[in-house]
Amino acid sequence: MPLVPESGTLAAQIGEGTALRPRIARRMNSAHRIAVIGGDGIGPEVTAEAIKVVRAAGVELDTTDFDLGGARYLRDGEILSDETLEELRAYDCILLGAVGTPDVPPGVIERGLLLKMRFELDLYINQRPFVGTAPGHDTPHEFIVIRENTEGPYVGEGGALRVGTPHEVATQGSVNTRLGVERCIRHAFELADSRSRKHLTLVHKTNVLTFAGGLWQRTFDEVAAEYPDVETAYHHVDAACIYFVQDPHRYDVVVTDNLFGDILTDLGGAVSGGIGLASSANLNPARTGPSMFEPVHGSAPDIVGTGQANPTAAILSAALMLDFLGEAAVADRIRAACADPVSGTTTEIGDAIAARVKN
Ligand code: IPM
Ligand code: MN
Repeated sequence: MPLVPESGTLAAQIGEGTALRPRIARRMNSAHRIAVIGGDGIGPEVTAEAIKVVRAAGVELDTTDFDLGGARYLRDGEILSDETLEELRAYDCILLGAVGTPDVPPGVIERGLLLKMRFELDLYINQRPFVGTAPGHDTPHEFIVIRENTEGPYVGEGGALRVGTPHEVATQGSVNTRLGVERCIRHAFELADSRSRKHLTLVHKTNVLTFAGGLWQRTFDEVAAEYPDVETAYHHVDAACIYFVQDPHRYDVVVTDNLFGDILTDLGGAVSGGIGLASSANLNPARTGPSMFEPVHGSAPDIVGTGQANPTAAILSAALMLDFLGEAAVADRIRAACADPVSGTTTEIGDAIAARVKN
């Protein structure tokens, strides 16, 4: 199985129908203002390579480093203050490495930094493209998962009572609003409609989660009526896991809720050359604030500083950022440069890809 997508032609197609491209071209000669949150573990190592590649491709970036993540929290207690959040709002985009460190209990940095940004900046779309040849297959697949990014079980509804006793009670609800579900589904239809296959699959678990599933399915069916050219399908999430492995070619665009999307996109990465290549865009499509771009992988504290981290997912996430900033041609060039496998250390891979994208 190849580690990265084999065909350059396919890499060129990834740019097709990404729905990330702004309708208005930006003013020429102005550097994009990027807030960089390297974060924890390998995060700063991979974001440094991503910035290196973007600059080598000739795009001017005016970057500001924000020292946030587990290490900062342990030093002075800041996770993401409201003041820092306000500062972030002034940037064109945010480039994030990874958050999470074993020294801090699970959830503290994830909820307090990453999820806070997703919720407060209304990054309601998590768009994750997958290109690769799945194990046991001969031909590459290419599909995009649209994950709802501000609702579902991620909102933290629920609580615990009598913790640590035999009478402990824990509830964790899933919040699904008509507005949140509809705007996500609409984005997915727009995307599907802009692509050549024009196919959209809703993934949920409507046979068990009947309340949330009912809202998702009804909204999907209603919006579908406005997109007569888009062919639709529905898969339960457990069946979708089988198809991701056994028949990934059946997918073009997939839309799903926050938690299903989280799990399914790790599987998407695993069948598309590995999680080291999986990129993502956390989008505020209304552009009322900065969107955020990050690799799907985590902070991998076990390999920090060893040079083993593959920066390709961060570089491909920066390419998604360039799509969003109106630099689609450069983004396509970066994707093409990532299509042929590079081996070496983190910086060697970054240097090799940077050399390929130089004008
Ligand atoms: C992701 C990550 C996050 C998520 C974690 C770090 C909170 O797994 O972006 O997929 O669950 O959304
Ligand atoms: Mn995840």
